[in-house]
Amino acid sequence: MNFYILTLFPEMVEDTFHTSIMKRAAEKELISLTAVNIRDFSENKHLKVDDYPYGGGAGMVMQPGPVYSAYESIKEKAKGARVVYMTPQGKVFNQKMAEEFAKEENLIFLCGHYEGIDERVLEEIVTDEVSIGDYVLTGGELPSLVMMDAIGRLVPGVLNNDVSAEIESFHDNLLEYPQYTRPVTFHDKEVPEVLRSGHHGNVEKWRREQSIIRTLKKRPDLLADANLTKKEKQFLENLKRENNK
Ligand code: ADE
Repeated sequence: MNFYILTLFPEMVEDTFHTSIMKRAAEKELISLTAVNIRDFSENKHLKVDDYPYGGGAGMVMQPGPVYSAYESIKEKAKGARVVYMTPQGKVFNQKMAEEFAKEENLIFLCGHYEGIDERVLEEIVTDEVSIGDYVLTGGELPSLVMMDAIGRLVPGVLNNDVSAEIESFHDNLLEYPQYTRPVTFHDKEVPEVLRSGHHGNVEKWRREQSIIRTLKKRPDLLADANLTKKEKQFLENLKRENNK
């Protein structure tokens, strides 16, 4: 997976990206990041890339020329890549979208700043508008990093443990079960007996049930699309009945 990012703050993105798991994945050449500084394509001797909005109003708008030239500088290398514009007006990012984007070979992220980017260049190059939530940030760098992290970890080989990307939160639309490690007793609380029993089948059953209990408690909205067996559906119905008593 090759990520390209068009930004006014390449160091911010590169430094954050090249940390921990993504750093190791980049060293293993499973993923790569190319950050393009939009300012390098300024058409102005003061390296300005923004100007006042036509029609007036607060703030500055990023000019179309430098954004387009930055895009052109990588468009051949990132052939056929979707161009994702980070904006609070976009579709709200979720795990399903991460899985879709993870199928791509190249992805380009476009980060705006100030009051946004001239509409004409957006119309020309953007294929997807994505938001990371209903709040407004100062730029698209943090949202891009969020997306690259969520997508990058789905690339085969990036996580040490191949199964861990599968069983955790949102697998089957359920939240992850609680985890425990040593010591057995902490502040008078013991690790559940079943996890120490060595009985694989019982451990699996307990974990599934805990996932269902947690999802009902914390994110009941997810249960509508949860993948449950007949027995698990029954378990859920019993839980609901207990809770309503
Ligand atoms: N740019 C500013 N706020 C944003 C958000 N919430 N998501 C994506 N891009 C943004």
